Amino acid sequence: MLVKNDATAYEANHLYPEFGLLNDPNGLVYFKGKYHVFYQWNPKGCNHKYKEWGHFISDDLQTWQRVEPALKPSMPDLDSAGIYSGTALVKDDRLYLFYTGNVRNAQGQSVKSTQMWAVSDDGIHFEKLGQLFPHPEGFTKDVRDPMVWQGKNGHYFLILGAQHDNQIGDIIIYESADLTEWTFKGSLLGEQLSDIRGYMLECPDLIEVDGKQVLMFSPQGLPADLMQHRFQNIHNTGYVVGHFDEEKARFEVQGDFNEVDEGFEFYAPQTMLAPNHRKIMWGWVGMMPPKREAEVPTIAKQNWVHTLSLPRELHLNAEQKLVQQPIVEILDPKPLTNFEDSLKPGQYTIDTAADWTLKLGHNAELKKRGAILHFERRQWDSGEIGHRQMQGKVDQLLLMVDHDVIEIYTQDGLNVMTGRWFG
Ligand code: FRU
Repeated sequence: MLVKNDATAYEANHLYPEFGLLNDPNGLVYFKGKYHVFYQWNPKGCNHKYKEWGHFISDDLQTWQRVEPALKPSMPDLDSAGIYSGTALVKDDRLYLFYTGNVRNAQGQSVKSTQMWAVSDDGIHFEKLGQLFPHPEGFTKDVRDPMVWQGKNGHYFLILGAQHDNQIGDIIIYESADLTEWTFKGSLLGEQLSDIRGYMLECPDLIEVDGKQVLMFSPQGLPADLMQHRFQNIHNTGYVVGHFDEEKARFEVQGDFNEVDEGFEFYAPQTMLAPNHRKIMWGWVGMMPPKREAEVPTIAKQNWVHTLSLPRELHLNAEQKLVQQPIVEILDPKPLTNFEDSLKPGQYTIDTAADWTLKLGHNAELKKRGAILHFERRQWDSGEIGHRQMQGKVDQLLLMVDHDVIEIYTQDGLNVMTGRWFG
């Protein structure tokens, strides 16, 4: 049983809401012997009108317990309509959460965002500490998703996804010696990556993987790069490797912007620093056009929508590219022998140079044709065929198949495709 105290078992190894809508993973942290996964949750309906921080805890990353929501809207003019995404930080044995407070007007439009924080001693009950700093000048109301870490110099850094008044996305950075007084340090990227910021940029995450710094973020409105079969979703997530200069509070980009997951709906990932320097990433499997989202079959059937991805351990390979593998705690694949029947939930390896076709229910299939792996599905909202593909060495695959989510890993996790499939 994935979630010990659930009456339902909608997925075997992907975290899901028992009801309502789940989106981004938040505040991933190991604190006082337990793993914590918080997430964006609307318990009031399968839409994005309202958000709390839902909360799972685990002793072993295998089975989880659903505990009470960590943070709910409560402060007029600050977070009354939503506790938006953010991160966790452990300091002096206390757990701090940083988040964005969302406020809506009478018509239900988001009109304001405020960067906020909260603290806990037991990791379950949180006390809100209010606003961190005033809204930065020159930016629209779309400034959100604080990610905080302690630098090597002992100072704290906080980065945010932001939209300039001229509708261009950016990542901005603040610095603090004590978490209470924050100084605005401008753009984390300066002039770099100016072509891939979109009109807004969400959920920045700056982490260290195998001694290098990796910056992940989710730009909105990037044109789909059809020739290379990249960035095919309405919004996408990518990463760049580089170096964070603490003196300048700038990230120096040292490589290309690569997509984190080439499937249908992976978005807004965050990482947890687990014991033994392990970096474990969860993403949201739910970025889709509004009509498709409203028609996800689980809504009519069971009144819930979306899952998190599997937890994936991150490394850099010799070419400084990110590689992802489901964590060893949950990994137990068997060689796939039956290519005739529809794939059943389970974990499989495939190791062959031959071409093959595999069915995923009636509406989706995987096809290997030479050096290309195709993932095709009939979109449940339109009936059109959606197509994603991975290129390169696709002889060796790992398939992680859940009741209606699949994750496909090639080249030891250099390429990954995730997607929902129904029926
Ligand atoms: C990303 C996002 C974040 C925001 C949250 C609201 O999916 O839009 O930028 O904080 O979702 O739920």
